[in-house]
Amino acid sequence: MTQRNVHIETWGCQMNVADSERMLALLAQKNFRAVSSPSDADLIILNTCNIREKARHKVLTRLGELRVFKDNNPSVLLALSGCVAQTESKSLRNQLPFLDLIFGPDQIEDLPQILEKVMEADDPSLSQFAPQGPLVQTKFSESREYSIPMDAAEPWLGGDKFEATRFVNIIKGCDNFCTFCVVPYTRGREKSRAMAEVVQETHFLAEKGVKEIVLLGQNVNSYGLDTCERDLEPLEHTPFVELLYKVSKTQGVERLRFMTSNPHDLPSQLPQAFVDIPALCDQFHLPVQAGSNAILKSMHRRYTRESYLEKIAAIRAVRPEMAFSSDIIVGFPGETDEDFEQTMSLVSDVKFAFIYAFTYSPRPLTPAAKFKNQVPEHIKVKRLQALLDMQKLETERQNKEEIGKLRDVMLFYRNRKEPENWYGRTFQGRLVKVLNIEGAAGITLPVRITEANATALVGVVEV
Ligand code: SAH
Ligand code: SF4
Ligand code: F3S
Repeated sequence: MTQRNVHIETWGCQMNVADSERMLALLAQKNFRAVSSPSDADLIILNTCNIREKARHKVLTRLGELRVFKDNNPSVLLALSGCVAQTESKSLRNQLPFLDLIFGPDQIEDLPQILEKVMEADDPSLSQFAPQGPLVQTKFSESREYSIPMDAAEPWLGGDKFEATRFVNIIKGCDNFCTFCVVPYTRGREKSRAMAEVVQETHFLAEKGVKEIVLLGQNVNSYGLDTCERDLEPLEHTPFVELLYKVSKTQGVERLRFMTSNPHDLPSQLPQAFVDIPALCDQFHLPVQAGSNAILKSMHRRYTRESYLEKIAAIRAVRPEMAFSSDIIVGFPGETDEDFEQTMSLVSDVKFAFIYAFTYSPRPLTPAAKFKNQVPEHIKVKRLQALLDMQKLETERQNKEEIGKLRDVMLFYRNRKEPENWYGRTFQGRLVKVLNIEGAAGITLPVRITEANATALVGVVEV
């Protein structure tokens, strides 16, 4: 089989990162080697994000740049995948005839077969573009099962690309239909992987030396409620919590995290799981989106400010050092100054370790895009700045409080410019630059924190 080169550029969330890694793994079996520069590639895949207009716009601008490689060499295959590809395949197919392939997130596992079809159809000697335009594969799978072949993880472990932390997909899609969000339309309905398959993957990764597992899904709380294990005996816990107990028994996995949780169906047994499972990190991303009950209702989030604060308190009661983080949208349609003040006060009360905050961006297909009372852009921008300024002070304050503490830091990667220094994370997820060590990815060392700013800590190993 001829050796070919593939270059994938990934935008968006961890789901896309995990999808790209899976594509590389599957393509490796077909003799595709990953290359970091598009100029070396026979196949270029742009894995796109559609969450906000800015994200979509950036991706399409980038596609314009990548097109040059195809213009220079028509035998290069150019493909668009991910969340823009899924929702806009019809219009893009006409607008971008130079593309060879447009495929959605549900086609990842079939990518090698799909590519064979493309290569059969593509004869560069006939014309610069495939005469029929790009092949479009965006049908959502009808199967209620979600299975990932085990060998899809292998090529990305070991050697110089060894990573001590790995994502493990447990559920895909989303059924929550928050009124602002495009994800239910880009990723389809929720489908969970069988528990045994997830456990098998974590064992496989641990055997390869992986030390931290991050269970991944748009809403991990919904894991298994619908599809997985339906016919088995009743579980002791809700399926997601049951999965946490099972995965935590994997020998060699020192840290366990999960993302993302929608607060509305956070399992009531989760605080107990934090008591029982020491490997579960003191780090919890729990997107609140807004602090006003009127806005939360209009967003269809199905929890209130009060119930959110209760959930935070219940977890802090068992894990006082828990570092919470959150996503916030400012300027959702109808958001008044008072509503925004409610967001400010909630963020101030919770004392998040950090937040991701964005101005509301109307998305096609979503109900909120048609809501009448859209907030003017200049007000959104002003509110966002006020929120970010406030949180920056809090993040800095919390980081400075770390100075002098002795923390277990798991090392992840070497600082490229200063090879004697390594980057790692505390059990609370704070980034630490560890000075002057012979490090290795995945080892955990006691580190005395000596300096801090709003983005990271600095420390030295204490023996
Ligand atoms: N499943 C996660 C969120 C995934 S999307 C959850 O329910 O919490 C990641 C984040 O993007 C969201 O939490 C939200 O804050 C932001 N986001 C989604 N749609 C958006 C929009 N239309 N405008 C601005 N931000 C948006
Ligand atoms: Fe989007 Fe809501 Fe689903 Fe999160 S839970 S992915 S915000 S629809
Ligand atoms: Fe973006 Fe799709 Fe993730 S829209 S945030 S890549 S699920």
